[in-house]
Amino acid sequence: MTSADSAARSLDRAAEEYRTFVGPGEQYDVFSAMQFNLLTALGLREHHTLLDIGCGSLRAGRLLIPYLRSGHYFGLEPERWLLEQGIRNEVSEALIALKRVTFAHDRDFRLTAFGRNFDYLIAQSVFSHVPAAQIDRCFAEAAEVMTPSSVFVASFFEGPEDYRGSATVVRAEFRFATIVALAERHRLVCERLAWPHPDGQQWLVIRREGGTFTVPPFGDHTRVANLERELAACTRRLEKLERHPYVRLGMRLSRAGRWLGFLVRVFTRPLTQKPRR
Ligand SMILES: C[S@@+](CC[C@H](N)C(=O)[O-])C[C@H]1O[C@@H](n2cnc3c(N)ncnc32)[C@H](O)[C@@H]1O
Repeated sequence: MTSADSAARSLDRAAEEYRTFVGPGEQYDVFSAMQFNLLTALGLREHHTLLDIGCGSLRAGRLLIPYLRSGHYFGLEPERWLLEQGIRNEVSEALIALKRVTFAHDRDFRLTAFGRNFDYLIAQSVFSHVPAAQIDRCFAEAAEVMTPSSVFVASFFEGPEDYRGSATVVRAEFRFATIVALAERHRLVCERLAWPHPDGQQWLVIRREGGTFTVPPFGDHTRVANLERELAACTRRLEKLERHPYVRLGMRLSRAGRWLGFLVRVFTRPLTQKPRR
C-alpha cells in the first residue's frame, strides 16, 4: 500500500467516525428514518419548530433540516467536532445557511438557551447514556420551553434497576417508574409510546400536565414493524446456526443416512419381495 493509499484510508476512517460515534454505522440511515417517521407520524409539519436535543452528527437532522421551513430546526450538541463532521458530510454549510439552523453547544441541557418555545422536542439515545440527575435537569428545562400543545419524544433503556452512577456511560438503564417520577417533578406527564427502536429502547411521549397534544393511533403499524424486526433477527440466527460446523456435519450425515436407507431398500427389495405366482 502506498502512503497516499494509507492517508486516504485514515481519512475514510475519520469520515466514518462521526457515524459510529452515535451508534452502529450500518444502521445510521435506519436511525435517521425512524426519527423522521416518528415525528411526522405524530403530526410534525414543515411549519412546526423542532428542538433536537443531543443532535449528534445530524442523524435525524439530515432529513429534518430539508423538511422544515427556514428557521424551524434547532439542535443542541455538546460535541462540536461531531456536529461539524455531520454538517460537512451529511447536509453541507450551504443548507445550514439556507435553512437558518440554530445550534447550541451546552453540556448541561440548557434548552432555555434558545430563548423560545418549541412545538416538538426529541432526545433520541440521549437518556440511554446519562445519569438520572441529567434527565431531571433536561425535564426541568423542557418544562420551560414547552407550551400546552408541545410534545417531547425521548428514548431510554428500560431495565429492572436504575443506573445510579454519576458519569455518562455506554448503557444506562432506568425503570419506567423512575422516569415517570422525574417528569412529574416538573409537571410533565410521561407515557410509553409504541414505536419501533432498532436498539430495543423504549420510546416515551412527554407532555405538559393538562396539555392538549394527543397521540394518533398507530399501534398496528408498530406491531407489524416489531414482528418484522423479530423475524429478521430469527432469520439471522438460523443462518448462523446453519453455518456452524457441527450442524453442517449433522446435515451431511442425515443426507448420507437417507441415501443409505434408499440403497438398502433398493438392494434388499428383491430378497424381501414375495415371488409372483
Ligand atoms: C448516541 S448519541 C445520539 C445522537 C442523536 N440523537 C442521534 O440520534 O444520532 C448521544 C448524543 O447525546 C449527546 N449528549 C450527551 N450529553 C448531552 C447533554 N448534556 N446535552 C445534550 N446532548 C448531550 C452526545 O454528545 C451525543 O451526540
